[in-house]
Amino acid sequence: APLIITIDGPSASGKTSVARRVAERLGIPYVSSGLLYRAVALLGLREGASPEEIEAHLERHHLELRPTPKENRVYLDGEEVSAALHSLEVDRRVSAVAQRPSVRAYVNQVLRQIPPPFVVDGRDMGSVVFPQARHKFYLTAQPEVRARRRVSEREADFRTILGDILRRDAADQKQSAPAPDAVVLDTSRLGLEEVVEAVLEHLRD
Ligand code: CDP
Repeated sequence: APLIITIDGPSASGKTSVARRVAERLGIPYVSSGLLYRAVALLGLREGASPEEIEAHLERHHLELRPTPKENRVYLDGEEVSAALHSLEVDRRVSAVAQRPSVRAYVNQVLRQIPPPFVVDGRDMGSVVFPQARHKFYLTAQPEVRARRRVSEREADFRTILGDILRRDAADQKQSAPAPDAVVLDTSRLGLEEVVEAVLEHLRD
């Protein structure tokens, strides 16, 4: 079977950074599924559409994810919107949008069209979207550790970010089940390269 590696985990668990580095080491593309949910949330914000209204908007707009080994670029109706996807506004809107079954079906269908090999990160990549994946990982870390990691990536202080992370953990609970056959790695005490090494080590088994 073609090579698919899934890396799931809660927000700021490091899954995207790890997926990118593992893919780089293997010389294959990585795919960050959360970017598609973020792009749908951005679309809703721009159109003034509530999460309930988003489905109708999805039919009228074109979303594209271009994965490369170095980065993922997201295009909304041909405009590159990658830089707009990591704002606090999108952070706060995305879970409600991602809970809509029609949005999940849409994102999953976009993901399943991507030709392997690739490393993909998200919440349910190993459990729902790519159950046939050859290697599956689930990254965890204490909320305080995850909040600290995110401080440098957002215009907000530690307390605000920790509060947002805890709220998003709760909101994302349903779509965040680890695949039963995933290797669970607690990264609370590990640096990025240590996690990458641990993942690569499992791939050799
Ligand atoms: O790392 P962080 O969780 O902040 O960002 P992300 O991976 O880009 O995910 C953003 C949001 O998209 C999550 O909070 C989920 O609501 C949603 N998501 C999802 O439901 N399923 C996925 N496979 C990926 C993301």
